[in-house]
Amino acid sequence: MSKPTITAHDLQFELFITAEQIRERIREMGAALTEQYNGQMPLFVSILNGAFIFTADLVRACEMDCEVSFVKIASYHGLQSVGKTRTLIGLEHDVTDRAVIVVEDIVDSGRTLSELIPNLEAQSPRSLEIVTLFHKPTATAYPLRLPHIGFSIPDKFIIGYGLDYDGLGRNLPDVYQLKGSS
Ligand code: IMP
Ligand code: MG
Repeated sequence: MSKPTITAHDLQFELFITAEQIRERIREMGAALTEQYNGQMPLFVSILNGAFIFTADLVRACEMDCEVSFVKIASYHGLQSVGKTRTLIGLEHDVTDRAVIVVEDIVDSGRTLSELIPNLEAQSPRSLEIVTLFHKPTATAYPLRLPHIGFSIPDKFIIGYGLDYDGLGRNLPDVYQLKGSS
């Protein structure tokens, strides 16, 4: 049986990871983070726009006191990551001596985080770790330590669960993969 297919703008995508699979994985990730950070009042730094849904579910899967903040960085147009990133909304929290957990929807080239992480490190956090729901290992050009990965996936464009193709697809509960891409 063929997979359910959707269209966003001019492209077709097919079902890749279901909402139920994501829910189950986030339950595990939340439990691991709770075990690691309980009592440290971590600050989750969520990267807008893509990580907004993941962040909402992840922090509710964490059973500990924590804070949540947001930054907005632009680097993507259409299907391609382009040029240098720009900070559109900066961090309003002081991260000095805080346990900081950066929350990303997907690490692709790694460029976005490789620019953000040194900026945060310069403010002397007590600890700094990245949590990402998706990772494309073959696409990562900038080395990053990624101790918390939800799903390692092939280097194909995906949408849904916060991720978009030119603005569309963020509200899809399931994740879809570009059809027919190599
Ligand atoms: P990087 O800087 O190349 O690692 O790109 C990271 C950002 O690009 C992510 O936060 C996403 O917003 C976006 N991105 C990367 N791959 C995809 C994808 O397959 N679908 C949708 N957005 C993506
Ligand atoms: Mg993003």
